[in-house]
Amino acid sequence: MRVIKTVSEMSDEAAGLRLAGKTVGFVPTMGYLHAGHLSLVKLARRENDVVVLSIFVNPTQFGQGEDLDRYPRDLPGDVDKCRKEDVNIVFAPEADDIYPDGFSTSVNVEGVSERLCGAVRPGHFRGVATVVAKLFNIVKPHRAYFGQKDHQQTMVVRRMARDLDIGTDIIVGPTVREPDGLAMSSRNAYLSPDDRMAAVQIYRALASARSLRQSGETRADVLLSKVRESLRNEPAIKAEYIELVDPEKLTPLSSAGEKALLALAVRIGKTRLIDNMFI
Ligand code: PAJ
Repeated sequence: MRVIKTVSEMSDEAAGLRLAGKTVGFVPTMGYLHAGHLSLVKLARRENDVVVLSIFVNPTQFGQGEDLDRYPRDLPGDVDKCRKEDVNIVFAPEADDIYPDGFSTSVNVEGVSERLCGAVRPGHFRGVATVVAKLFNIVKPHRAYFGQKDHQQTMVVRRMARDLDIGTDIIVGPTVREPDGLAMSSRNAYLSPDDRMAAVQIYRALASARSLRQSGETRADVLLSKVRESLRNEPAIKAEYIELVDPEKLTPLSSAGEKALLALAVRIGKTRLIDNMFI
C-alpha cells in the first residue's frame, strides 16, 4: 500500500493506472475511519483492480463556527485500517495543494443542494461538490463509493457527475450502524457518555415511524409526529429538521408512497448528527 501526499503524484499515478487498463474504485473520506467507511472500501475492493481512499478534511464544506478545527484526525490509525482492508493507495493531500493561492472556482449543484442540510448549512454542498469534482479529476476513478447515511450528498454528487460528464459511476452503500442502531459517524467521537446513550433515540425514532408505515399509515404529518414524539423521550436531542421527502428530488411528501425517505438532523449538545431511513 502507498500513501500519496501530493496532487501531482496522485494524478500521475492515476493516469498510469488508466493506461495500464486497471479499473480504479475510489472512496473519498475525511478520515477518522470507522466501519461505515470500511464497508465502502470492501465494496470497492470487490469491484475494482485498484482501490484508492482519500483522506482530506475539506475546509470549504465547513461553515463559520462549525467544527473544522476540532474535526477528529488520526492519519496513522487510518493508514493502518486501510492496509488491513487491502487498500492500494491512500491519498492524503494538504489543503494548500488542493486549494492553492488564487483558487476561485466552485461547483454549485442547484435544486438538490438547497433543501434539508443545504438549507441549514449554506455553502456546504458547494464545498462538497467542488472537492469531489477535483478529487474525481485527480484520481480519475471508474467507480466512486458513497454512503447512504449522507443521502443528500449522494444526490448532489450524482447530479454533479451527470451534469459535468465526469464518467465515474456513483455507487451507494448502505448505512452501517452500531449494535444499538446509531449510524456510525466520525462525529460520534464528540459525544459524551450521556449524549451517546441519548443518541440511540435517533435510530429508534426513525424505526418507530417505519413500523407505523408498515402497519399501513401513510400520512406524512402522522409519521413525522411519531418521530417528534419519540425524540422527546430524550430531552438532550434538539431536532434541526425532520422531513419526509421524495428520495430523488428531496421535495417534501404529504404521504408516503412506494418511495419515501425520512431524513433528519439533530443536535445533541454541540454535536450535529444526521440520519435517514427509507420507509
Ligand atoms: P466522511 O464523512 O468521512 O464520509 C466519507 C464517506 O463515508 C461518505 O460517502 C459517507 O456517506 C460514508 N459514510 C459515513 N458514515 C457512514 C455509515 N455509517 N455507513 C455507511 N457509509 C458511511 O462525506 C464525507 O466524508 C465528505 O463530505 C466527502 C464526500 C469526503 C467530501 O469531502
